[in-house]
Amino acid sequence: MKGIILAGGSGTRLYPATIPVNKHLLNIYDKPMIYYPLSVLLLAGCREILIISTPKDISRFEELFGDGSKIGIKFYYSSQKQAKGIAEALIIGEDFINRESVWLILGDNFFFGHGLHQLLKEALIYHNGEGATVFAYPVSDPHRYGVIEFEENGKVLSLEEKPLNPKSDYAVTGLYLYDNKASELAKTLKPSSRGELEITDLNKLYLQRGLLKVKKFGRGYTWIDAGTFDSLHQASDFVRIIEKRQSFKIACIEEIVYRLGYITKEQLLQTIAPLKNSGYGKYIMKIIEDID
Ligand code: G1P
Repeated sequence: MKGIILAGGSGTRLYPATIPVNKHLLNIYDKPMIYYPLSVLLLAGCREILIISTPKDISRFEELFGDGSKIGIKFYYSSQKQAKGIAEALIIGEDFINRESVWLILGDNFFFGHGLHQLLKEALIYHNGEGATVFAYPVSDPHRYGVIEFEENGKVLSLEEKPLNPKSDYAVTGLYLYDNKASELAKTLKPSSRGELEITDLNKLYLQRGLLKVKKFGRGYTWIDAGTFDSLHQASDFVRIIEKRQSFKIACIEEIVYRLGYITKEQLLQTIAPLKNSGYGKYIMKIIEDID
């Protein structure tokens, strides 16, 4: 299964913090932001992952993750020269996608919930290689997002990007699952008034064709778009509280791939050797002992 993480943009809403550092490498509590969307793609079954960032920053991600062999997957890297919209990721990734289905996730989106792994598996079955699947989440400030309007029977009636008068409280999160037509359709889009190829416009094309599926996140899930100082702080607080209280870490990618059986204990020990002085490394050592 293929997945794309879009980790580009200039992060101007987080200036000056993002002048020297790409937004997706800033920390959410105890690990870089990109670990969180990466963990979602791993749980969604992706073993080939394309990371898209700016020409200036892409080498940082390569430095962090390498070719993926240390965690039993394959990473690919591409640059997005200008912030020309989320839908452009599907054009940049066309060769990588190679006419298969693909998950796309925004690098600043944080998801947490006990049933997430199962929900993603179900979404993939429901997707069945056709159409687009988006994930809706009820929020108190829908005007900041793409918004979905539902009919009473749950069918999607409309989609709007950042509407002044939202027709529902359901925001479209930054996680999408597309069939093999996505790149082709993305190429037909025209830039919006903010000069971007809008993902909402692509999803509207699927809606018009009767091929837009929606999965709702219920009360048991947390979704945060960590693109502002407040939401970044919120996400950090959230992770800190859960990790302090429970004996588990959120988005520990080495733990996820080990539990998924992508790497052996010996490989994991090698992978985490450089991390052994950090709480993160010590946590993984404990996981290994617990599983043994
Ligand atoms: C983007 C999408 C929007 C979606 C949001 C989720 O917004 O355009 O539809 O709801 O991500 O994070 P942007 O981050 O470009 O403001």
